[in-house]
Amino acid sequence: MQIIRSVGELADYVAMQRRHHHAIGFVPTMGALHAGHISLVERAVRDNEVTIVSVFVNPTQFNNPSDLATYPRKEEEDFRMLAGAGVSAVFAPAVEEMYPSGTSRDHEYKLGSAAEVMEGKYRPGHFQGVAQVVHRLFDLVRPDRAYFGEKDFQQIAVIRNMVESEHVDVEIIACPIRRAADGLALSSRNALLSEEQRRRAPGIYAALCESVDYSQSHTVQETHDMVVERINNIPEMRVEYYEIVDGRTLMPISEWGESDFAVGCITVYNGDVRLIDNIRYK
Ligand code: PAJ
Repeated sequence: MQIIRSVGELADYVAMQRRHHHAIGFVPTMGALHAGHISLVERAVRDNEVTIVSVFVNPTQFNNPSDLATYPRKEEEDFRMLAGAGVSAVFAPAVEEMYPSGTSRDHEYKLGSAAEVMEGKYRPGHFQGVAQVVHRLFDLVRPDRAYFGEKDFQQIAVIRNMVESEHVDVEIIACPIRRAADGLALSSRNALLSEEQRRRAPGIYAALCESVDYSQSHTVQETHDMVVERINNIPEMRVEYYEIVDGRTLMPISEWGESDFAVGCITVYNGDVRLIDNIRYK
C-alpha cells in the first residue's frame, strides 16, 4: 500500500492508474477507522482494480472547535487496517496541503433542501465543509465509484446533490450501517465514551428498533415522541433531534402514507459525545 502525503504525488499516482485503464474506487474518511469504514473499503476493493482511501480530519466541516480538537486520531493503526484490507493507496495530507490558501470557504455549494434540515439546521456550515472537501478529493482522485455509509444518511443525499450541481462524473454507492454486537452503530466517536456511557449507548438503537413495531399501530408523531422519551430517560442522554423523513427528499412526513421510504434520523448527546443513527420504517 502506497502512503501519499502530497497532492502532486496523488496526481501522479492517479495518472498512472488511468494510463492502465484501472477502475478507481474511493473511500473518503476522517480516520480512527473501525469495521464500519472497513466494510466500505472491502466493497470498493471488490468492485474496482484500484482502491484509494483518504484519511483527513477536515477542519472546515467542524462547527465546534472542541469537537475538532477531541476528534480521535490514530494514523498508524489506520494504515495497518487499510493495508490488511487490500487498499492500493492511502492519501493522508496535512491541512496546509489540502487548503494551501487557508480554510475559509470561497464557494457556496448548491446542496438543495436536503442540506437545510436536521444536521444542516443543528450544525450550520457543516455540509458546505463536507461538500468542499469531498469535491476537492473527487477532483484529485477522479474516482469511478465513491463509497459512503448509510450511518450518515443525510450526508449521502447531500453528496449526491453536490455531484449533480458540480457535474462530477462519479457513481455514488451507499453502504449499510455496521453495528457492534449490542446494536450500537460503529463510530469513531464511540472511543470518546466513558465505560458507563458506552454501556448505555445501545439504548439508542434499541428504542429505534422498538419504534418500528410501535409505528404499525401509532401515528408518526406518537412514534417520534416514543423514541425521544425512551432515549431521554436513559441517564446522560439527550436527544438533539429525531425526525421521521422521506428517505429521498429528507423532508419530514406527518403521515405514514406520505412516503414509501420513511426513515427516522436521530442525533443524541451521550454526555458530551454526539452520536447519530437512523432506522428505516419502510
Ligand atoms: P467518517 O465519519 O470518517 O466516515 C467515513 C465514511 O464511513 C462515511 O461515508 C461514513 O458514513 C462511513 N461510516 C462511518 N461509520 C459507519 C458504520 N458504522 N457503518 C457504515 N459506514 C460507516 O463521513 C465522514 O468521515 C466525512 O464527512 C467525510 C465524508 C470523509 C468528509 O470529510
